[in-house]
Amino acid sequence: MTISLTELEAVVREAGTIALAHFKDLKHLAINKKAPRDFVTAADVAVEAFLKEALSKLYPQFGFWGEESGQSANQLARWVVDPIDGTHSFSKGQYFWAISVALEIEHELIAGAVYAPALNDYYTAKKGEGAFKNGEPITVSLEDDLGDAMIATGFACLRAYLDDNNLERFNRIAQKTTGQRRFGSAALDVCLVADGQVDAYWEQELNLYDIAGGVVVAREAGATVTDFKGNEGVYPKQILVTNGKVLDQLLPLM
Ligand code: IPD
Ligand code: CA
Ligand code: CA
Repeated sequence: MTISLTELEAVVREAGTIALAHFKDLKHLAINKKAPRDFVTAADVAVEAFLKEALSKLYPQFGFWGEESGQSANQLARWVVDPIDGTHSFSKGQYFWAISVALEIEHELIAGAVYAPALNDYYTAKKGEGAFKNGEPITVSLEDDLGDAMIATGFACLRAYLDDNNLERFNRIAQKTTGQRRFGSAALDVCLVADGQVDAYWEQELNLYDIAGGVVVAREAGATVTDFKGNEGVYPKQILVTNGKVLDQLLPLM
């Protein structure tokens, strides 16, 4: 069963309108703490409720797994949704946040959409059909020298209070690269590799909904998606996305 990326875009863009309405009225935005260092806002909840209803109307055969409402119905063919990825940034009025939607069928990521309404950037892809940003084809960067590369990462792991908290890894890699960035949205971080804006991204202790939409886009744009040892696959607890050309230089440093 294929889906229409055009239909999906209409739904995700409408979700973006809901998110932007809250974004433009932050002084009235209800913010709660669902765990230490982990926020949820009324916007997250409203966007997810809209997506769950709209997608189940369009495709009743698919189940749903959303960050805020959990898993419901068919989990072998499901939408995997992060209604607002980058909630902390969103709550501060920053522009770097995104709505991430992916279709996963029998553990295979088939289609993805990552929409950054405040940046007006819409990334989308369907398996085997290429990756697009705002309707234009995108591919990973040509950078093949880690020393000249720009890398991105995140620190979700700090929330897990892990011994391996990425700080030493970041310190090691930052000294071997030219540019380092922490943008604040894993979904967008993955899409920036797909779009050639950064050459590699890694992070630990994420969830599938943070990265699923971006992984479909990145793979179709020619990115590698592995764990920190270079094993191909989607490992939310240890995700490494690269342009392929710096992967071998990065792996010994991971
Ligand atoms: C967060 C963002 C951030 C990552 C955090 C995630 P959320 O998603 O993706 O970049 O470092 O670990 O939790 O919580 O804003 O949906
Ligand atoms: Ca997230
Ligand atoms: Ca979220």
